Amino acid sequence: MPLSGPRTAPGTTWMESGRHVGKKGLGMQYRLISLWPINKRNVGTNALESIGLGTILTQPDRPYTRVTKVGNTRYFEAVYAGLAVTQACLGCHNAHPDSPKRDFKLNDVMGAIVISIQLGQ
Ligand code: HEC
Repeated sequence: MPLSGPRTAPGTTWMESGRHVGKKGLGMQYRLISLWPINKRNVGTNALESIGLGTILTQPDRPYTRVTKVGNTRYFEAVYAGLAVTQACLGCHNAHPDSPKRDFKLNDVMGAIVISIQLGQ
């Protein structure tokens, strides 16, 4: 699932929406992660995210999914590849002063979107 097309700053927008959804307590959250993040907070922070990122790099056509458990609560988590689907992705990320990678090409895996859905007890 490629991330959606050109917008003003999709990365920023998605991150803010992610926080918003999380705050509302709807039991669903998502965030963007990458091995080459503009924002250092967007590195993979746990085993699922690290393994998911590694897996979708070689198999970007399907998500990496797992059911995880925190305390007694189970979560369905899916890591989808975020592809450089437009020149806009490249233009902004390759030129961004905080980007550790400057040679993204069209259709490269730039990172991933992690979706987490609460399944209940
Ligand atoms: C106008 C500039 C801009 C464009 C266009 C853009 N991004 Fe980003 N992207 C950013 C910024 C800035 C961040 C960091 C947001 C934050 O602070 O969390 C980001 C974050 C990300 C992340 C999370 C890892 C990181 O770098 O922090 C991914 C993955 C990502 N973008 C993919 C894409 C994809 C795929 C596209 C094209 C569909 C795209 N971006 C288009 C500016 C852009």
